[in-house]
Amino acid sequence: MIRPIRKAIFPVAGLGTRFLPATKAQPKEMLPIIDKPIIQFAVEEALAAGITHLIFVIGRTKRSIADHFDSNPELDTALRQKGNHEMADLLNSIVPDSAACIYFRQSEALGLGHAVACAAPVIAPDEPFAVLLADDLMRARTPVLKQMIDCYQQTGRSMVAVEDVAPQAVSSYGIVDADRPGIGQLAAMRGIVEKPARDEAPSTQAVVGRYILDGSIMPLLKAQAPGKGGEIQLTDAIRQLIQTHGVDAFRYEGQRYDCGSKLGFIACTMASALAHPDFGSEVREMMHNMLAQDPPH
Ligand code: UTP
Repeated sequence: MIRPIRKAIFPVAGLGTRFLPATKAQPKEMLPIIDKPIIQFAVEEALAAGITHLIFVIGRTKRSIADHFDSNPELDTALRQKGNHEMADLLNSIVPDSAACIYFRQSEALGLGHAVACAAPVIAPDEPFAVLLADDLMRARTPVLKQMIDCYQQTGRSMVAVEDVAPQAVSSYGIVDADRPGIGQLAAMRGIVEKPARDEAPSTQAVVGRYILDGSIMPLLKAQAPGKGGEIQLTDAIRQLIQTHGVDAFRYEGQRYDCGSKLGFIACTMASALAHPDFGSEVREMMHNMLAQDPPH
């Protein structure tokens, strides 16, 4: 029987060096796109896919994430006294009562694989679970994780979300060796390599931050030696999982913004501002005027 997927791991313990000094005292996942932290988009995607256990792996800047998803009675009272019940209700509904938040501490940023393994105590040996890297912010008609879980219900096999990247970008990603699936489809993976040189990449299909993994990956992660960049890599354990259980590449429908990079973050902010229901048209006019100045101030 194929098991339902109820648990999602959010590794948020990276150093976020590309966004310093903004990330000196807070994780990059708390940076907002206009008025909502990046992590909240990923949490909403997970909840919309039926996840009930939100597992955060937090680092040295731990407090802001836990505080964001916890209730804040003082703020609630203050908002209600001012008659702002709408915002008070909105804040209370970020995580519904039916979902649980669980926190693990990654005391040192030893790599994504190490971060995922920190959540091993709450994952049963044969239990499938999701991993979401919140800095890959996804916009899609059907939430990307839901697309993946729907597929998983047919196959029961682990999968990673993939997209095509430019050949010169392969050295920034995990790259899969697989036939190219159509949108919303799967292809069995033959292999995977972390950040290969352009002439050594098996394809231009890059892994993006959404995974469904079998619980049996946890002992593989625990036994993992440091790989590329001296970090314990999730990619290396997935390569082993391909041999033991099989792993598929899933081509998702939607648009990804790489909010871990400044340009991706700017693109996401601009697209969100332009599409904003309250002030999108004003933003459009503002941008138009700015572009007319040379250079804009
Ligand atoms: P990144 O490599 O993109 O994040 O990790 P980073 O290292 O924080 O960023 P830069 O390159 O220094 O700017 C991908 C994801 O894995 C998490 C990060 O928080 C991010 O969500 N991660 C990475 C951990 O939780 N722990 C780690 O040790 C490494």
